[in-house]
Amino acid sequence: MSPVTQSFRGKELKPSESLKIDAFSVRIGDIKGVELDRLHALSLSVGWPHRAEDWHFLREVGQGVVALDEIGRVLGSAMWFGHGDSFATVGMVITSPRLQTLGAAQWLMKRVFDNVPGHDLRLNATRAARRLYLSLDFQPEKTVYQCQGIARLPTAGSSAEAGSDVRTLDASDIPAAIALDAAGFGVRRTALIERLFAHSHGYGLFKNDKLNAFALCRPFGRGHVIGPVVAETDADAVAIVRPHVADHSGSFLRVDTHMHDGEFAAFLSHAGMPVFDTVLTMSLGKRLADFYTGRSAGLKTYTLASQTLG
Ligand SMILES: CC(C)(COP(=O)(O)OP(=O)(O)OC[C@H]1O[C@@H](n2cnc3c(N)ncnc32)[C@H](O)[C@@H]1OP(=O)(O)O)[C@@H](O)C(=O)NCCC(=O)NCCS
Repeated sequence: MSPVTQSFRGKELKPSESLKIDAFSVRIGDIKGVELDRLHALSLSVGWPHRAEDWHFLREVGQGVVALDEIGRVLGSAMWFGHGDSFATVGMVITSPRLQTLGAAQWLMKRVFDNVPGHDLRLNATRAARRLYLSLDFQPEKTVYQCQGIARLPTAGSSAEAGSDVRTLDASDIPAAIALDAAGFGVRRTALIERLFAHSHGYGLFKNDKLNAFALCRPFGRGHVIGPVVAETDADAVAIVRPHVADHSGSFLRVDTHMHDGEFAAFLSHAGMPVFDTVLTMSLGKRLADFYTGRSAGLKTYTLASQTLG
């Protein structure tokens, strides 16, 4: 293709094949002051499935910073979600491809540290981000399996055992769900679970009228995500995830789980959600095991609320 030529005062000008663009500077901003469309464009630029509504929800339940250029374009983001006064999860750490490997993510993470000083932090690192977090002293903990696909209800697999009953949750179940989530996650997440209830459909497994396990499911990305799921056993986790699979049979469903073996993991793959990718849970400060010391093995977080929220 021949380059377009222009003329100036009778002389023909041929543009050069390359153009040097000056380095530009970025400033920090509060994520709450940015239009959702701009955040959505940022996550699309790195191939993430979040919709504008997903960003909206994350801003309702968390805080964050953005890197802005001179004309207000969003070139980077980082968010944190505090629970209590000494713990937070970190997520939505993104730098636009044209800004990558120049230290912007390091710079954004330092702004996160300034905002949650002395907190124990947990996050789920993509492969691209592992080196960044290792350099910030985060310690690797466990693999997260991102399982997704077009849901289908397997014919085999446990339903609720005799003496237990699976039913739809309502607002009166929120306090019991918060308590179960705290036991599984290791930290009480009152405000988050309340907000998730407002956006989700939930099923609970009741034994003698007491909530023993629950699974929430909400719209996210390309379809729906099931999480969190908190249960004592694989069989209970399957019993409360199964009705969500039935509800979304034939459409896109996703689950992020630490479980790799056993009945629950097998159920996901039979339900049309094989492992699509993995990320790595990492922590700074208290290690994952420190949150469970002195507790008997019991309730477990079978699926995350999301990779961002933990
Ligand atoms: C992961 C991501 C946030 C890193 O952002 P970034 O602005 O490139 O990171 P920085 O320039 O601050 O680099 C931080 C560290 O990672 C290293 N690094 C960055 N990109 C790298 C690459 N492609 N290969 C190897 N190392 C790399 C840097 O050298 C630096 O390491 P150092 O401190 O040892 O020198 C960015 O690549 C991104 O947005 N990726 C897509 C979304 C994503 O995966 N986000 C992470 C969510 S957990």
